[in-house]
Amino acid sequence: MSEEQGPKEHKAIPNGIKAPSHLNLPYPDSPELITSNLQKLIDLVPDPRHKFVFERLIAHMHQFVNETSITTEEWMNTIQFLTRVGQTCTPIRQEFILLSDILGVSALVDSLNNPPVKGATESSVLGPFFTEDAPDVAQGDSIASEGSGEYMYVEGRVISTDGTPVAGAVIETWETDENGTHPHLFLALGPLTSQYLMAMPGFYDTQYSNRQAADCRGRLRSDKDGKYGYRAVVPVCYPIPGDGPVGELLLNLGRHNMRPNHLHLMVDAPGFRKLVTALYPSGDEFLASDAVFGVKKDLVVKLQDVNDDAEARKRGFPKGGSFKLLEFDIILSPEAEAEAARTAFAAERAQKLVAL
Ligand code: BEZ
Ligand code: FE
Repeated sequence: MSEEQGPKEHKAIPNGIKAPSHLNLPYPDSPELITSNLQKLIDLVPDPRHKFVFERLIAHMHQFVNETSITTEEWMNTIQFLTRVGQTCTPIRQEFILLSDILGVSALVDSLNNPPVKGATESSVLGPFFTEDAPDVAQGDSIASEGSGEYMYVEGRVISTDGTPVAGAVIETWETDENGTHPHLFLALGPLTSQYLMAMPGFYDTQYSNRQAADCRGRLRSDKDGKYGYRAVVPVCYPIPGDGPVGELLLNLGRHNMRPNHLHLMVDAPGFRKLVTALYPSGDEFLASDAVFGVKKDLVVKLQDVNDDAEARKRGFPKGGSFKLLEFDIILSPEAEAEAARTAFAAERAQKLVAL
């Protein structure tokens, strides 16, 4: 066995940083001294942002341990849980993001980084089901294969906050099908999800092991007047992955793992802040208790019933009949406006919180 092939030794070697004797740190033999010694060390961090973030992180973590008087066993369980979260991650599954999602941290980071810009469409969580392989679809085309669900037509304009049409904006859109309503899929998913039979969840194409090609997703561009329109299906609610440690945590906390029905949109145009959002048709029972806290009031939309066979056929629905209409203007904020709003919002909130 050559040296390269042999087992790697995990030797710890000194990192070269000298003992900070000038700090005259006392021995950390009380809870308070552990915290204050660490904060004195953090004080030496040269980068001001890094120093600030770590100072706050340590303050909150130590406060948490103090307030909860967490037991050694509880802390070991926590470490084991986090270890399992890491071990569940694969190139196509990110259990840490899911943990951040269900703890509301993803939504919080998103709402701080994308505060409302007057008149602009609000953001929502991206989630793990965006893929790069969505087909390009022309205006009026369908993103969903026939039979994926109830017909829905989505249309509107992409405009700037000042009302100017945005031509050529790239709209990525993806959603669930309705196939999760088939009972055999529930049986295949096991007892943890069968309790949601009544909720009729759907699935993303990537959740099918026999996925051949992208479905219920597409990429289109707004036309010269900023208009866009495409055929889709009415999205249905669905469970976020529940077969890993995050799923177990939700069960332990007595929380459901459902997301309300929604249609994802990611809209990009030069000079504008990229918008990552989702539209949530009204009426879903999980809207207010979304497992990942993605719903905002202004993103809840009303689907109109169009019971007109001729109109359905004119719009390209092969079976005609009726369809739902989702009319929504996507309002993008110019990059400079979005950045100014973000900086002001973050500074204002940080100041308020640090003062507490
Ligand atoms: C989603 O919307 O697809 C999603 C978001 C967060 C976690 C899981 C799923
Ligand atoms: Fe989703």
